[in-house]
Amino acid sequence: MTQLQLVERVLKPAVFIIALIPFAYLLWGFFTGGIGANPVNEFIRETGLWGLRLLLLTLCVTPLRRITGWNPIIKFRRMLGLYAFFYSALHLIAYLIFEAELSLVYVIKDAVYRMYITVGWIGLLPLVPLAVTSTDGMLRRLGGKRWQQLHRLVYVAAVASVGHYLLLVKADLRDPLFYLAVFLLLMLLRLPPVARQLSGLRSSESGRAAKGIR
Ligand code: HEM
Repeated sequence: MTQLQLVERVLKPAVFIIALIPFAYLLWGFFTGGIGANPVNEFIRETGLWGLRLLLLTLCVTPLRRITGWNPIIKFRRMLGLYAFFYSALHLIAYLIFEAELSLVYVIKDAVYRMYITVGWIGLLPLVPLAVTSTDGMLRRLGGKRWQQLHRLVYVAAVASVGHYLLLVKADLRDPLFYLAVFLLLMLLRLPPVARQLSGLRSSESGRAAKGIR
């Protein structure tokens, strides 16, 4: 089995199933009361957290590829990004149904008066065009360059999602600060000199390995 076949046939289906586990757990907990005394709040919080985690995992793919030199890892990026959208959409749906009780007036007022909700929308809306244009067909139709430019919206989504978390936490800022630190590290690894250094490290290492130097 080639590495690409291993990814397509084994690793991708495995990641697909693993990423569904939080959803299955939350659904089960929501209906059985297994996720605490306030299942609605817990469902909103956990879907938000998983949306953020998956968004940051999506941003890990490119630096990991540079660090490890393992190119097939790129095959996971789309799936992780779509899962980030999936959990964020569940987060929004739960908010719209249980907090806003499907009132458009509530949603608008909330977005205007509560800063963290405004920023939440800025985190969520860019994920929509990213999800819609995630297919190979859309990539072909837009052309690689335009597609890439559009997909830079992922940074807007990530900044706003971390900002949303920072703004909504009132007392203990440790958790949102942890996600902010991860995000900043991922951005640091993308800076052109750092990215060049990482790619350079790989090529000099493989050159040394090819020459039998340890
Ligand atoms: C329309 C957009 C959004 C709305 C209306 C919204 C609304 C909310 C609400 C009402 C809460 C609960 C606050 C509380 O417990 O006091 C929350 C928490 C949270 N949201 Fe959002 N959100 C949005 C977008 C996002 C996005 C895009 C992400 C990340 C991908 C996200 C991540 C989180 C996180 C991490 C929490 C905190 C969880 C915790 O307390 O442990 N949200 N959001």
